[in-house]
Amino acid sequence: MSSLEELQRRVSELEQQNSELMAQLIQAQRLGGVGQLAASITHEFNNILMTVINYSKMGLRHKDAATREKAFDRILSAGQRASKITTGMLAYARPKGDRREDIDLGQVVADVLILVEKDLQMHRIRLQADVLANPVCTVNVSQLQQVLMNLIVNARQAMENGGALTIGVRLSEDSTMGEISIRDTGVGIPAETLRKIFEPFFTTKKTDANGQGGNGLGLSFCRDVIESHKGRLRVESTVGQGTTFTLKLPLAAAATGRKSA
Ligand SMILES: Nc1ncnc2c1ncn2[C@@H]1O[C@H](COP(=O)(O)OP(=O)(O)O)[C@@H](O)[C@H]1O
Ligand SMILES: [Mg+2]
Repeated sequence: MSSLEELQRRVSELEQQNSELMAQLIQAQRLGGVGQLAASITHEFNNILMTVINYSKMGLRHKDAATREKAFDRILSAGQRASKITTGMLAYARPKGDRREDIDLGQVVADVLILVEKDLQMHRIRLQADVLANPVCTVNVSQLQQVLMNLIVNARQAMENGGALTIGVRLSEDSTMGEISIRDTGVGIPAETLRKIFEPFFTTKKTDANGQGGNGLGLSFCRDVIESHKGRLRVESTVGQGTTFTLKLPLAAAATGRKSA
């Protein structure tokens, strides 16, 4: 088998891998409300695959060394780009496994804010972070990041004409838990709606022509994750003024131990 034929085989393998990754990403998007990402990545991946396919064909057609070398060159750099993208996607969409680590909640918040800063700025939302303590909790960092992303995207969507988003990190009143609050100055949630927002598939968002819109899975995912960490997720809201989501997580055993010692 020629190396170009081998390459073509590898291309179809990549296509297969790509569609598997896409399925995972779409799943993450369902949970995430951060879906525009998926569309742009799909587009980018298609461009890369077209490059690979076209240069493979060119290399198979032309027997001269120079053309073949150029084809290999292009295929190689396309492959390297694809690999960069999938690495990034895997870090974000990491679907399985439940690896937990002791981590400062302030650190998790800081990492998420780096990802959303630009987006909030574009939507004319002022961002303020009040890190009043550095509680260490035992968490699945990637899941907690997705929870925060969901709450932040919801907050942003509730502030169509801009506003302020305040993220607080502190210890709970009795100092047994770490606490993160996400407060927006958005439309607020009426009482009869408030009872339903954690139900899977409950949404007040319309799906637009691009299929973007609410699927109502964000908050039920958030609550699942927080409760699986023996934590709590609460909401308070005033129509016309805004909404605050507060999550509490038990402090890591080591941190609690130090405290009582
Ligand atoms: N910060 C918020 N301000 C106002 N309403 C909110 C906020 N967060 C959630 N909601 C309400 O809760 C519903 C369910 O949220 P969610 O489970 O994330 O699903 P989705 O965002 O797909 O609609 C939303 O459709 C919205 O009505
Ligand atoms: Mg949502």
